[in-house]
Formats: sequence, C-alpha cells, structure tokens
Amino acid sequence: MAQRPYIVGNWKMNGTRAMLSEARAIDRASQRLMKVEVAVAPPFTLIHATRKEAQQMAIGAQDCHAGSEGAHTGDVSASMVADAGASFVILGHSERRQNHTETDEMVKAKADSAIEAGLKVIVCCGETEADRDAGKAIDVVTSQLRGSLPVGGDVAERLTVAYEPVWAIGTGRVAADSDVAEMHAAIRALLLELYGEPEEDSEVRILYGGSVKPENAAQILSIADVGGALVGGASLTAESFLGIVMGATEAEEAAA
Ligand code: 13P
Repeated sequence: MAQRPYIVGNWKMNGTRAMLSEARAIDRASQRLMKVEVAVAPPFTLIHATRKEAQQMAIGAQDCHAGSEGAHTGDVSASMVADAGASFVILGHSERRQNHTETDEMVKAKADSAIEAGLKVIVCCGETEADRDAGKAIDVVTSQLRGSLPVGGDVAERLTVAYEPVWAIGTGRVAADSDVAEMHAAIRALLLELYGEPEEDSEVRILYGGSVKPENAAQILSIADVGGALVGGASLTAESFLGIVMGATEAEEAAA
C-alpha cells in the first residue's frame, strides 16, 4: 500500500500569534481528513505555539543551521527546532538557495545535522525557467539532489523530496502534468540508485510545489508519483489550505 499523500504548508516569513487560529482550524479539520497527512512549517517564532495547538498535524521548521550550537548569531540549530516542537525541517528551498546563497553542500550538511537531531527532512529542488528553456531541467534537478541529499544508514525513512520549479513559485503558473510526471520519474530513479529498493510502505514521497491551490490540487495529486504538495501562499488560511487537503483526499479516493 502506498503512503498517504503528504500536504505541507510552508508559511515562509508570514505569521504572528494572530495566525494561531488558522493553525488550530487546520489541525481540527485534519483530524477528520485522515486519508491525508497534514503538516505546517511556520516561522521559527511560531513553532512552539503552533505545536501546542496541534493534536494531529505535524509541525516543522523552514531551515536550520548545520552546526549543533555555538557562536552563530541569528542562527537556529536542528536540536533547537526539535526542542521547540518541530518533527521535520524543510531544507534547500529555492528562496534560501537564492537569498542566502545556500549551496548543495550546505543543504546536505544541514540535512545530516537534522537527521542526527532526530528530525525528518524535506529536501527541496527545482530548476529555473532558463534551465527549463535550455532543456536542462532534469540535469539541474538531479544534480542538485545528488549534492544535497543525506546518505547512509536509514536516512531514506526520514526523507521527503519536494520538487518546486522556481518559476512556478508564487506566480500562479504550474508545470505541465507531463513535465511533473517526467521529473518525478527522474527523481524516483535517482532515489532508487542512492537508497535502493524501499521497504514496503516506506517509499520516499516526492512532493510537488509551486502555485498549488484548491482548484488544481486534485489534478496535480493525481499525476504519477506525486506523493503530496508543498504549499506556500495557499497555506496561509485554513480555508484555502483545507481546500487543498480536500483535493488530495479526492485524488486519493479516486485512485483507490
Ligand atoms: P506558492 O505555493 O506560494 O507558489 O509557494 C510554493 C513554495 O515555495 C512552497 O515551498
């Protein structure tokens, strides 16, 4: 049996305590929508408070430092986000790669540190529009993942990959179904090469991200090997995020 679809809200740099009511509403509804696994990654400042609201959904961080402690002003370690209540961390998002010049090596070091701290990780990848226009999308994404993914031991059990074409993030543009299917197949082949055949029920899920909305969620989630969605803008209200969770539920029921 395949794993449940995994719908993760990435709140990015949005949210003050006023948004806890949205978190609570998402959590309460997710208790009734059990065909889907629901998670939210608020900013660091809200991890502890959202965790206290959450009875069902998982809470994650959007980044962590690769080191465990020390003189790194403004940084937060994996064990600190775990202590605040996070069970996973999103790493290597294109906004961090762009705004903080994070390299594949840095993302991998963070992933190793997060796994060491007992967290699950969502490692992000995605091509720019120029990469896609040049016909290099698959090469760029597989090379990012080769450099960014943690290796060794049982890391695959703690891993999720998120494919987010940079040009689809926050733009309202979504990759064509055939391009998503092609990319997810290429990522699946790489995961098989790196981690081998998975145990039953423990296949690494590959999420799609980039302008996922309630209106397109069921369609995107029905594409081959799309194991869930990483959602930005549409995760900021319970109404739109739950619309996506319901779309995923529909796709799951249609596939059953
Ligand atoms: P949008 O859903 O706002 O396009 O953002 C996607 C994303 O970057 C999630 O990590």
